Amino acid sequence: MFRASPTQGIALVTGASSGIGRGVALELARRGYRVAILARREAELQSLANERPNAFYVYSCDVTDRALVRATLAKIEAERGSIALAFLNVGTYFADREATVDAETIMSTFEVNVGGTVNCLAPLTEFMCLRKAGQIAVNASVAGYGGLPRSLGYGPSKAALINMAASLKLTLAPYNVRVQLVCPGFVKTPLTDNNKFPMPFLMGLEAAATRICDGFERGGFEIAFPRRMAWLLKALNALPYAAYFAIVGAQTTAKRRD
Ligand SMILES: NC(=O)c1ccc[n+]([C@@H]2O[C@H](COP(=O)([O-])OP(=O)(O)OC[C@H]3O[C@@H](n4cnc5c(N)ncnc54)[C@H](OP(=O)(O)O)[C@@H]3O)[C@@H](O)[C@H]2O)c1
Repeated sequence: MFRASPTQGIALVTGASSGIGRGVALELARRGYRVAILARREAELQSLANERPNAFYVYSCDVTDRALVRATLAKIEAERGSIALAFLNVGTYFADREATVDAETIMSTFEVNVGGTVNCLAPLTEFMCLRKAGQIAVNASVAGYGGLPRSLGYGPSKAALINMAASLKLTLAPYNVRVQLVCPGFVKTPLTDNNKFPMPFLMGLEAAATRICDGFERGGFEIAFPRRMAWLLKALNALPYAAYFAIVGAQTTAKRRD
């Protein structure tokens, strides 16, 4: 099964203008890749590119615009060469209001987290399946393992990506395209800086980027960290629902009263 290296082509990182995407793009450049960096804010991408001249190619693109994504990825391949490794990382989070199903917020979250990933996957898998070589990692979250309170958009969108990555892995294996799933716990980024609730096992950005890039090199399906957080949530989700609701309900209610 294909495993990417800097000699086999370039890397693509979506959502590279801040947070985890920026950290992973920098780490990949340190490991010898030339990296196509994609997001909407061109100035932020350019400032990343300035940190390491000749390592980055800047592409400004909104991943919810399907036609633009297809044209941009085709342009990257034409201008910079084959994409050997793609980290589909774009994601957004809006806190749910108490006890409301806000259709606008939930569907906007799905449009970016699921729709944006699918818009990238469609052309990428075409390119990679045709040449029977490629590695794709989808950034989901441990929040996608099971239902959490006040997470009606974010958690379910990440659950969809977890299921989709598993399906893609089975679908693309005959084409020599490796699919991986990234499930981070809490990482310190501009996205989590807005959180008003406690974030257990919060991890620094550089440590998270190293874990993710080590995972690309190892090639296993799931890159989940911090391990304590991932295994705790996996264990809770293996329980019967009555026990899961009792434990998660008690823990999250207690935290909200703090
Ligand atoms: N931080 C955590 O604790 C954590 C935990 C688990 C999973 N994750 C996942 O990790 C990923 C990155 O999160 P982060 O914490 O690094 O957040 P972040 O700092 O807010 O980064 C999000 C990135 O996505 C880009 N983006 C957002 N909407 C876009 C769109 N429509 N088109 C193109 N780019 C878009 C943003 O760039 P522009 O605004 O310039 O477009 C930015 O580069 C997300 O998928 C998130 O769900 C994060």
